Amino acid sequence: MNRFAFVIHPLDASDVARKYALARYLPARLVERMAQGIQPKVVSHITGIRSATGAEAEGWFIGCPLTARVIMNGKPELVERRLIESVQVAEQVGARIVGLGAFTSIFGDAGITLAKHVGIAVTTGNSLTVATAIEGAFRACELMKMDPKQAAAGVVGAAGSIGRVCCHLLKDHVGSLTLIGLQQDDLEALKQELEQAGSCPITIRRDPKVVLPELDLLVSVTSAVDTVIHAEDLKRGAVVCDVARPRDVSKDVARKRNDVLVIEGGVVEVPGNVDFGFDFGFPPRTAYACMSETMVLALEGRYESFTLGRGLTLEGVLEIQALAKKHGFRLAGFRSFERAVTTEHIAAIRKAAGR
Ligand SMILES: NC(=O)c1ccc[n+]([C@@H]2O[C@H](COP(=O)([O-])OP(=O)(O)OC[C@H]3O[C@@H](n4cnc5c(N)ncnc54)[C@H](OP(=O)(O)O)[C@@H]3O)[C@@H](O)[C@H]2O)c1
Repeated sequence: MNRFAFVIHPLDASDVARKYALARYLPARLVERMAQGIQPKVVSHITGIRSATGAEAEGWFIGCPLTARVIMNGKPELVERRLIESVQVAEQVGARIVGLGAFTSIFGDAGITLAKHVGIAVTTGNSLTVATAIEGAFRACELMKMDPKQAAAGVVGAAGSIGRVCCHLLKDHVGSLTLIGLQQDDLEALKQELEQAGSCPITIRRDPKVVLPELDLLVSVTSAVDTVIHAEDLKRGAVVCDVARPRDVSKDVARKRNDVLVIEGGVVEVPGNVDFGFDFGFPPRTAYACMSETMVLALEGRYESFTLGRGLTLEGVLEIQALAKKHGFRLAGFRSFERAVTTEHIAAIRKAAGR
């Protein structure tokens, strides 16, 4: 049997409260502090993954008790210790590869140090996340009857690990591309890299508020702990693929904007009759793309640290996309703010957008 594990963590204090009911009555900061004292452990056993090739895999979710805020702003020594313990639990239960979920793949050098503390492979899962996000974004354009070639596109968090390769995949298929992020130097370097490879016109913006109202297609993939895209920021008829967890797009967009389509990026249908043994808020038999990358590698028997560190390659993204298809992983139906997006919903958005 092919064996893998995947490290998950609470995005915020309300996630901790779903597991420990008492936490509901305590202030969020106190809950986060108390959770730091909990050792990482197995959360569930994952069974029933069956590839289109007939290969099977089983796995474990390993729960790391730190929230996104603590991983980003907490004491680095504590965060590193908890993450090392998490991947060590994965090794102890018999996994041969471990994937890093959400902010556990962002901390420090994006898995490189963690991999040195175990004798099993480690992957961030970011390569399949990129492939799935871009596939989803283009599919959403099709449904909204938007021609990407005519679209003013933008990537928020463009210079990040996932954002950078998303830009490479977008640059030949959109009308123009705006790189949005925090550090001017990183954005300039990326602009140069993209232009050298030949691309559509590229601009740089550091303030999303200024540029978002002009963009038709957005991929958002920042490591911000709080939301960065709000209802008043978006252009009528815009398509937004929100890859970030916690999400970049504020919930008020769902309430106030019936003329834009926001989809969750990186949601994948898993082959077989998979039982995750744990409810992470998705419909049955679907998973995040980063989880799926770990499963694909296990099914393929590729026990190697496929995506590690921040330097993702286009070749790696295309290779894992092909392997995922081979094993029967597919882009799942769209979800928006934890709900399935129906054809009627998209038709209503198109109408409100005057399209
Ligand atoms: N859906 C999925 O399956 C899936 C899978 C993996 C990861 N993710 C999510 O993807 C996101 C990004 O991951 P990553 O590995 O690419 O992280 P990363 O390498 O740290 O990149 C994040 C980028 O966002 C920028 N940023 C942070 N706050 C920002 C803000 N307020 N406005 C604009 N840019 C901002 C960062 O700039 P600085 O470097 O200057 O801070 C950095 O360039 C995370 O939310 C992660 O949880 C989702």
